[in-house]
Amino acid sequence: MKNIVILLSGRGSNMEAIVRAAQAGQWPVRFSAVISNKADAKGLVFAQEHGIPTAVVPNRDYASREAFDAALREVIDGFSPDLVVLAGFMRILTAPFVEHYAGRILNIHPSLLPDFPGLDTHRRALDAGVAEHGATVHFVTAELDHGPAVAQARVPVLPGDTEESLRVRVLAQEHILYPHAIRLFLDGRLSHREKIT
Ligand code: GAR
Repeated sequence: MKNIVILLSGRGSNMEAIVRAAQAGQWPVRFSAVISNKADAKGLVFAQEHGIPTAVVPNRDYASREAFDAALREVIDGFSPDLVVLAGFMRILTAPFVEHYAGRILNIHPSLLPDFPGLDTHRRALDAGVAEHGATVHFVTAELDHGPAVAQARVPVLPGDTEESLRVRVLAQEHILYPHAIRLFLDGRLSHREKIT
């Protein structure tokens, strides 16, 4: 039984997709905790309703990024994670934090990395006029949105697309991609940048 800790800041639809996939597929995992930096993150409600322990580490309570990351790390490690899953966790993490979880921390980012790291990925994809957009699951490293990609999902950018229509199309793929990537990790089968759609 592997322990998974999920970090999120908001809605938590990726967390929900992961938990549902694990339940449906009877994965040999325990969701040890869902942890948020925001007390009002909607994702915490789903976790509580599904019997997953939750914790809140409010970043605003800490004077520095380093102090926040140290506190977060202590809470996470209390749940002995084999894998830390960032699912819409909107904080930049310090190098010592990331290095502590090297090789066992994944993130999903709503673009085809290395294109469009950072925020507002859908608007920037539209502005750039790309024909394809998508999402990437990658190992987290100290450089934001630059860790080794392990899985990508592609969607077409269609005539008349808005930021919202593109966001919805990409998010639907995220909900397939992230559970798939985590399953590969659990099976010890993650290869560098596996393309599944
Ligand atoms: C997702 O689209 C995820 O890719 C993105 O935040 C959203 C969270 O949605 N993550 C990032 O932008 C990280 N840089 P969710 O809370 O419904 O899973």
